[in-house]
Amino acid sequence: MPVEDNDSQVVLTHPEDNSTTVTILKYGANVLSWKNKGKEQLWLSEGAKVDGSKPVRGGIPLVFPVFGKQKDANHPTFPLPQHGFARSSEWEFLGQTSANPPTVQFALSPEQVSSEALKLWGNGDYDFTLILTVSLELDKLTTEIEVENAGEKEFEFNWLFHTYFRVPDITDTLVNNLIDQKCFDQLLAEEYVEKSPIISFHEEFDRIYKKVDYGKTFQIIEFGKVLINVVRKNLPDAVVWNPWIKKSDGMADFLPKNGYLNMLCVEPGNVSDFVKLQKGEKWTGAQILTVGGEIKVQSNIY
Ligand code: BG6
Repeated sequence: MPVEDNDSQVVLTHPEDNSTTVTILKYGANVLSWKNKGKEQLWLSEGAKVDGSKPVRGGIPLVFPVFGKQKDANHPTFPLPQHGFARSSEWEFLGQTSANPPTVQFALSPEQVSSEALKLWGNGDYDFTLILTVSLELDKLTTEIEVENAGEKEFEFNWLFHTYFRVPDITDTLVNNLIDQKCFDQLLAEEYVEKSPIISFHEEFDRIYKKVDYGKTFQIIEFGKVLINVVRKNLPDAVVWNPWIKKSDGMADFLPKNGYLNMLCVEPGNVSDFVKLQKGEKWTGAQILTVGGEIKVQSNIY
């Protein structure tokens, strides 16, 4: 059975390899697990709630219509909670659109969002349709989002795939191809140009890399081998995050407590500014994740 619809989850199995699977929770349309040839690629907290009581800690949470907490009190996203409501709403499973590669779609529109949450964004005056498409290939997972303004009023939003990757040991993990990119360091509250050809991790890390050329592939490298390649379509920014010891200790749903050693978030999105959609307009963005391959060093003269 390539696609199984259990009550709360949808499981896709690759027709040519039954150890290649992806599991998506309908709540948040949150990918919980991506196994490629039997090997888990994503990190999911052992304390993650999958009963709809709070956003899932791990996998691929979906961030919409605001990234983080809006600081500008005049912006319509200001009243919203951190990372918006898409990750804490039950999405509708639309079904399978292709058997090979197995592909499924989920939708979110105001009917699925709680009236309390809706009111926090433009007084509930916005109408929208979000379609998430998840496609599983061998060595590859694609998640694509389409946002449509289905109402009369123009609105502005952020989008982010908050992807938690599983890594054997964060202290041996590197990320390349962010050199010379403008970034906003959320811990220092400062903007600067990244000068490290390869990023390594030895303390809390929380940076928004802005408007990165689409030709750049971010590679998560461990012990000289590429674990994952992250390619983006129409998602100019990337957040790189590891909470390290103190921050993960403060998150009740982050388990085990030393789990920060085995995770790294590399999160493609549109968060350094807002996407504006007029009545009837559509916007799409995607992250394409592939496993393995060779290290490719891309400076600004590649
Ligand atoms: C990251 C942010 O994307 O998400 C961090 O850059 C934040 O600042 C993290 O701490 C987790 O957010 P949350 O709301 O899931 O705890």
